[in-house]
Amino acid sequence: MKNVSLIIRQATISDIEAITDIYLDGAKYQFSLNKKLYNIPNREVVLAHNKKQHASSLGKTIKKEGITLVAEHKGQVVGVIGVTLHRHEEHSLLRVKVSAELDISVKETMRGYGVGTKLIQAAEVWAQKHGAERMMLHTYVGNERAINFYKKYNQFEVIGLVLAKPLKNLKKTA
Ligand SMILES: CC(C)(COP(=O)(O)OP(=O)(O)OC[C@H]1O[C@@H](n2cnc3c(N)ncnc32)[C@H](O)[C@@H]1OP(=O)(O)O)[C@@H](O)C(=O)NCCC(=O)NCCS
Repeated sequence: MKNVSLIIRQATISDIEAITDIYLDGAKYQFSLNKKLYNIPNREVVLAHNKKQHASSLGKTIKKEGITLVAEHKGQVVGVIGVTLHRHEEHSLLRVKVSAELDISVKETMRGYGVGTKLIQAAEVWAQKHGAERMMLHTYVGNERAINFYKKYNQFEVIGLVLAKPLKNLKKTA
């Protein structure tokens, strides 16, 4: 892995277009791995969703339960990580009371330069500061490069499996 100079900072609303494009880069990658499971959403739809979701939270010191961080290289946003805190209530079976869920994507042309690792490190600092005892994330079981990235460079371990069964779409009868 090569390393490049990066600034990690909190996202602002002016990053929303770049964040959308990076998210779509991630979508294209997942689609290339499994075309039956994944879909590449329309850019305008994703942008409208991001504006609605993040307009109130991006750029604030802390969206109470999370933060969005971006990696900037030579003045351009090249990666993004969302951190969402989950508070597990007392009836939960889990020992961990607060966990931080990560959602990360790096611009296609900037993968393999340490951007993802730097974003995870910054997310970890933020999460710990806000009481999280564990970080977690979901990825597609066939995304071996990403799984390798989480395990080899970022000390994650696989702790669960999601099982799925496609259902037939039954037509409603009158
Ligand atoms: C997975 C991802 C976030 C990692 O970020 P990154 O900045 O490329 O990772 P780093 O440069 O810090 O670490 C590089 C390591 O990540 C792994 N890696 C995973 N996907 C990679 C990719 N598409 N290109 C290059 N390296 C990749 C490799 O193991 C690499 O190590 P190596 O160079 O020794 O083989 C990023 O590659 C990405 O957005 N991939 C496409 C979308 C995706 O798979 N998202 C996962 C959703 S959970």
